[in-house]
Order: sequence, then C-alpha cells, then structure tokens
Amino acid sequence: MKIRVLGAAAGGGFPQWNCNHPNSRRARDGDPAAAPRTQSSITVSADGAHWFLFNASPDLRQQINANSILHPKNSPRHSPIQGVVLTNADVDHVTGLLTLRESQPLVIYATGRVLGVLGANSIFNVLNPELVQRRPITLEQPFELGGPEGYRSGLTVKPFAVPGKVALWLEDATKGPNFGSVEEDTIALEVSGPAGGPRFYYIPGCAEMTSALAERIRGADLIFFDGTLWVDDEMIRDGVGIKTGKRMGHLSVSGEDGTMAALRELGIKRRIFIHINTTNPILLDDSAERKAVNEAGWEVAYDGMAINLD
Ligand code: MLT
Ligand code: MN
Repeated sequence: MKIRVLGAAAGGGFPQWNCNHPNSRRARDGDPAAAPRTQSSITVSADGAHWFLFNASPDLRQQINANSILHPKNSPRHSPIQGVVLTNADVDHVTGLLTLRESQPLVIYATGRVLGVLGANSIFNVLNPELVQRRPITLEQPFELGGPEGYRSGLTVKPFAVPGKVALWLEDATKGPNFGSVEEDTIALEVSGPAGGPRFYYIPGCAEMTSALAERIRGADLIFFDGTLWVDDEMIRDGVGIKTGKRMGHLSVSGEDGTMAALRELGIKRRIFIHINTTNPILLDDSAERKAVNEAGWEVAYDGMAINLD
C-alpha cells in the first residue's frame, strides 16, 4: 500500500491568506524551518498506478502538479485518480471536487449525509453526473476501493463515525449546542490490504478520544490524526480567532487530555499529525513543541510525505 500526503495543513493552509501570526510570517518569508503546507488530503494506492484521494482540498490543482504520481499518463485525456473518499463536508475537504471537472470518470464515496450536502449544492453538478458516480458508504460497512471503469484496488475501507460536528458552513444554531450534527457528519477511515496485511487509520478531524475509538485503533500499523491545535485556546491566546478547538470539533495535541497522552499506550507503530493549523507550533522544525511530539514518537506530516506500508 502506498500513501502520499498531498496537504498537511488545516483549513486555510499554511500560511493562511489573511494570517499574520509569526508562524505564517515565517512560512511566507521562506524560512526553511517553516515549510508551507497545503490543505489537508492524502492519496492512497495499491499498485502505484491507480490512486484514491482521501478528501479533495481546495489546493488540489497545486497538489496534483506537485506530485507526478497524479499526472496524466496516457493521451489525450487521463488521470491516475480513480476516486475520492470524503470524511466530512468541510470546505477544506470538498471544494477540490470542483477541480476534478472536465468530464473525467471518477467515483465519489461519502456518507448519505455528505452526499446530501453535495446534492443540495448544484455547483457540484459540474462533475458530469454521467461520468462521476456518487456511491453512498455506510458506517461500519467495509467496501473495496474501486474505480469508475471496473478497476478494483483490493484495498478495503471501513468508514466509522468519530466525535465531531457538522461542517462550519452548515452549522444551525437553532438546533442546540451541537448545531444539528449527526454521526455521518464526521467519519474516519480504516484502510487495509489483503488479510494479514497492514492496517492504517485516517482521522483528520476528531473532537474527542473515546474508549471505543482507542480500542479500535489499538495496535494499528499507522495512524494519521487530527493535529489542528497544540492547546485548545491557542487561537484566542494568539489573537487570531475567537474559537477553541473544542468549539471547532478538534481534540488538541498536548496536555493530559490531549491526543499524545490518549494514544501513548495503544501500541500504534507509526503516528502522524495531519490537518495542522497555522497557529500550531509543531509546524516549526525548530520549536520546543515539535521536539516534544517527536520525542513522544509522533511525526508531523508535510506535503509530499511518502509512505510505503507493506
Ligand atoms: C475545520 O476543520 O474545523 C474546518 O475545516 C474549519 C473551516 O471550515 O474553516
Ligand atoms: Mn478542516
């Protein structure tokens, strides 16, 4: 199984267009210890020729150009991209679908809830409905990643709900403290190859580590996990926002109730933070916080990070 990180930053990217936080300034100034990152997405393949996107970032065009594995190989029209699996309807995860127009056969996999959001926004019809299939996925029901023209990857994906909330732009304040969120709004993906082979998890958004989630991911070969914030109130503290991580549906990296602590004893072989916000000091190669996550056995994803999981 081959995995490539296309974008490691959270919504807005690093640096974000209107952000003048010191981290963003360093990235904008070309500081080598503050490498820019595009918005959150990975791509996965069994054979190195057929690839599936996990989420479609607004930066997808740039991500395709930066990764030759995703370049057209056959003329006149071709793409190694077979399909897209969506974990929620956030702007940073669905707007890249619009980049995939131009009558290219594809499969979009998403929950009924997220497909409903796409269906309610007619701009997504720019993906020619005659060529782009929308396949509903069901929580806890494994399915094989397959392409639009019969390609079968042999990779199995099991979608499951994780604590989270509805996309920011779909929040309904009249529906109480969870803004009308339902289980299918935020899912994670378990990906495995042939029986006995490796298993990894893609969890770019998660609000809480429940004991059920901890048991599920125990002993995994690899996990990509929500690394949005270092501490819950970091955006308020740094004067760039008014929301906590909890309010946005993100568990923080540090602290006794944070992600590093929660995953410390789960025997996961490789742990990687992804979906990282501009304010998070782990983005900086020379920060004390980066050192702390590395010493705890975690890696920080970067654009172009390539992993072979066999
Ligand atoms: C999030 O992960 O919280 C969202 O991507 C925020 C946003 O839509 O800007
Ligand atoms: Mn996001």
